[in-house]
Amino acid sequence: MSREVEVLISKEEIEKRVKELSREIESCFSSPFTVISLLNGGFIFTADLVRSFKVPVNIDFMRVKSYKGKSRGSLELLYPPELNLKDKKVLLVDDIFDSGESLNFAVNYLKSLGAKEVKTCVLLFKERKRELPLKPDFFGFKVPDFFVVGYGLDLNGMYRQIPYIGILKE
Ligand code: IMP
Ligand code: MG
Repeated sequence: MSREVEVLISKEEIEKRVKELSREIESCFSSPFTVISLLNGGFIFTADLVRSFKVPVNIDFMRVKSYKGKSRGSLELLYPPELNLKDKKVLLVDDIFDSGESLNFAVNYLKSLGAKEVKTCVLLFKERKRELPLKPDFFGFKVPDFFVVGYGLDLNGMYRQIPYIGILKE
């Protein structure tokens, strides 16, 4: 059964911030770059972000599976990018930076493929303690340490289609 969702970040706030982020990102890359979108959660954010870029970009996808509840580092590559990333400048895009394990794993994987530079961008940065030193290069909004849904973020595959970021009501 679907639960009510309380708005945390509105559709309009997201639209405005995504446009700002795209300008920030473009100004940090001096030459063409490749966008790698982390599936599944990053798909809506990536779609809006790339359509806001004024420079042409290559776009590809990858998928990392995390085994929640298990020990740190329980991550597996499910689906690698198909583009050749050797010596390329890459922008890795994901929905949320929570523990940071997924982004860290993906960055290391892209570097192992020979990417020259990997910058990271997430829509949401969760305010919580974490052990990893990695911080995203760009983020849209800081959010409190709650479980959030919408704009690509899901609970068991549901709520991704909601056009805003929300918190599930009990
Ligand atoms: P990590 O802990 O930073 O590795 O986050 C792993 C993944 O868990 C993220 O890319 C999201 O897909 C998912 N995730 C983390 N926090 C939330 C949340 O609050 N709502 C929905 N998905 C989340
Ligand atoms: Mg994800």
